[in-house]
Amino acid sequence: VERSLVLVKPDGVKRALTGAIIDRIERKGMRVIAMDLRSLPRELVEEHYAEHQGKPFFEPLVSFMLSGPVVAMVIEGHRCIEAFRTLSGATDPVKAAPGTIRGDLATDVGTTVVQNLVHGSDSPASAEREIKLFFPDLA
Ligand code: GTP
Ligand code: MG
Repeated sequence: VERSLVLVKPDGVKRALTGAIIDRIERKGMRVIAMDLRSLPRELVEEHYAEHQGKPFFEPLVSFMLSGPVVAMVIEGHRCIEAFRTLSGATDPVKAAPGTIRGDLATDVGTTVVQNLVHGSDSPASAEREIKLFFPDLA
């Protein structure tokens, strides 16, 4: 089985959508195997989004991720990396299909960086890197 790192971003925690998001993960057939609510240190956010360093939206993205606590979790299931990305929908919540987390529950709120409720690892290599970063003690 595969594992993926999932984050409920600060907008999702503030809007109290954590339960709805976990519900969708579990109803799809995936399991949560580690989870906590935490405020992220800046260094962790910068490391997590290292691929975007230097892009115009990098600072707004980091500020957004520091604007409140997130719920961090590791999910497990066959092909769960791709399955969770499909469940999340497109990065731009206006383009995300209805039926997806972003398509159903998020919209453009006029901020510099789009607030799109969730993060999910985008490849097995990213998942391994991100799980080590957020849950270094997970076996
Ligand atoms: P994450 O799950 O957060 O990693 O989103 P993603 O994988 O769908 O998108 P990506 O990793 O490419 O970008 C990370 C975050 O940066 C996105 O969730 C957006 O908030 C923001 N972002 C990405 N691309 C753009 C862009 O072109 N413009 C702006 N303003 N923000 C962007
Ligand atoms: Mg990404």
